[in-house]
Amino acid sequence: MIKGLIFDLDGVITDTAEYHYLAWKSLAKKLGIEMDREFNEQLKGISRMESLDLILKHGNKENDYTEEEKQELATQKNEEYQHYIEEITHNDLLPGIETLLKEAKEKGIGMALASASKNGPKIIRQLEIDELFDGTVVDPASLSAGKPDPEIFIKGAEVLGLKPEECVGLEDAEAGVESINAAGMFSVGVGSEAAMHKADYIVKDTKELTLDKILEAAEK
Ligand code: BG6
Ligand code: MG
Repeated sequence: MIKGLIFDLDGVITDTAEYHYLAWKSLAKKLGIEMDREFNEQLKGISRMESLDLILKHGNKENDYTEEEKQELATQKNEEYQHYIEEITHNDLLPGIETLLKEAKEKGIGMALASASKNGPKIIRQLEIDELFDGTVVDPASLSAGKPDPEIFIKGAEVLGLKPEECVGLEDAEAGVESINAAGMFSVGVGSEAAMHKADYIVKDTKELTLDKILEAAEK
């Protein structure tokens, strides 16, 4: 029986995946590296420093910067990203998410946040959903390995006091779906069939995410 939902944040609860893309694209451009949306799929769900390494590799510049310079570049990207998220309010919940969160709460389904983002706590406060995730946000700084490793979703189940098989994980990233699957959870993928093909249940849009449909699919 499903007793918990474990959410990714960026691109599932709110559209910050787009802001990450814009901020990385702008930094990459300054470094003389072109990146498109197709390449960006690989960055989704991946930590800040790992994303930077992938971008530098993509531009054949992986040996051009010291660790210190890379920290500085990552900081520049984060500052631009933080400008974008400054204006986020409750109205920026993606379609269908508010109803899903409310229904899950009413039915006593546990909810945890499994986001790689260090900006996650600030974003959920601005979205005014932080009370729903009180004590159930996995701290990405506590992880020994990021997505696609299952650790973040396993910890998400732990903070809810549940077994992985009692939880459903929701993701928009290929690495995230792999993480959920490796954790032994039912995976829900939001996005194109091509990007989400490893998910147990795929929806194109968050509008299609209803609690009934998710539970029906997961408990089949
Ligand atoms: C993930 C995003 O949720 O968080 C990635 O999908 C991002 O794109 C990662 O790089 C880390 O985010 P932050 O806010 O800590 O730089
Ligand atoms: Mg995401």
